[in-house]
Amino acid sequence: MVAVFVCVCIHNDDMVTIPEVMLSSGAKPMPLIGLGTAVYPFAASETMRAAILRAIELGYRQFDTAALYRSEEPLGEAIAEAVRSGAIESRDELFITSKLWCSDAHGHLVLPALQRTLRNLQLDYLDLYLIHWPVSTKPGRYEVPMPKEDLQPIDLSSVWKAMEQCQRLGLTRSIGVSNFSTKKLETLLSIANIPPAVNQVEVNPLWQQQKLREFCVAKGIQVCAYSPLGAKGTMWGQDWVMNCDVIKDIAAAKGKTLAQICLRWVHEQGDCVLAKSFNEKRMLENLDILDWELNEEEKRKISEIPQRKGCLGLEFVSDYGPYKSAEELWDGEI
Ligand SMILES: NC(=O)c1ccc[n+]([C@@H]2O[C@H](COP(=O)([O-])OP(=O)(O)OC[C@H]3O[C@@H](n4cnc5c(N)ncnc54)[C@H](OP(=O)(O)O)[C@@H]3O)[C@@H](O)[C@H]2O)c1
Repeated sequence: MVAVFVCVCIHNDDMVTIPEVMLSSGAKPMPLIGLGTAVYPFAASETMRAAILRAIELGYRQFDTAALYRSEEPLGEAIAEAVRSGAIESRDELFITSKLWCSDAHGHLVLPALQRTLRNLQLDYLDLYLIHWPVSTKPGRYEVPMPKEDLQPIDLSSVWKAMEQCQRLGLTRSIGVSNFSTKKLETLLSIANIPPAVNQVEVNPLWQQQKLREFCVAKGIQVCAYSPLGAKGTMWGQDWVMNCDVIKDIAAAKGKTLAQICLRWVHEQGDCVLAKSFNEKRMLENLDILDWELNEEEKRKISEIPQRKGCLGLEFVSDYGPYKSAEELWDGEI
């Protein structure tokens, strides 16, 4: 990876400066803070559209969506409205990530899936397109949990070839993966013509992913941290992060919120931070992590927090599917 950090000033009333990182694709740099858009049960809503528009006004420049989340359409509407209102001059000021759902993770379905995603978003191109999980399911369904009998092994070679074709066609500037272990990344790197620019995985103080991060840094793959607050209150998350006494104590002593300590810690690891909030106060709070830092003692305390993975992906595990256990899904890296 060309690990060049580029700072940009985002001009609006609140004037936020979000650092950016150049991805291995050499395309437009990626802002290191983005807004997540996953809300379960997955459904588009006016609340979502309005929250995303407000986020653009507040200075967010990266948005994370997925075919699964049903948030592509509201995100597209918010982008169009932001351009109309002059909050941004053009869509080029934003970094938009979406993901290929498992039911489209078949070589011949990748391009049509991306074309559908672009129609939903009213965009000509994505900045980043990710394979959502290292799993295929029978075509047609966009849901989780899915029927276990729908789970199939992914033909990574044909799916990645199709992802590469999407990038060559200019429909996405970069391609990458999500929920890939180091072992699966090694397999992918051995067959790829275009290496993955990003691996989007769970990262927070309770699931620090040191081994995976070291591997990604060595291979030039940018880590993007999902569920940086532990995704409390979602079907895939836990309240362990928000209830962690070590982080609570650091936050109280430092005059920051627990969420800010988590997000700052992720940021200091060099990962891209993807938190979801549709609440204006919390959206601003989550951006306010750039002009202060954790000291050595605070970092040491966080490094000693016992590790527990929140999102095990058990819906992808079945006696009849490609992964018989969570150990197999994550190649023992849990
Ligand atoms: N690739 C994948 O498989 C995958 C998996 C999971 C997530 N993701 C992506 O990553 C994004 C973020 O992860 P996530 O949504 O799972 O979890 P998260 O960002 O760790 O947590 C979201 C929850 O935290 C709350 N929250 C946000 N900011 C807060 C603050 N400052 N103080 C207190 N609570 C706060 C939100 O509520 P409010 O909205 O009410 O503030 C929401 O309930 C997702 O939205 C999605 O785009 C990807």
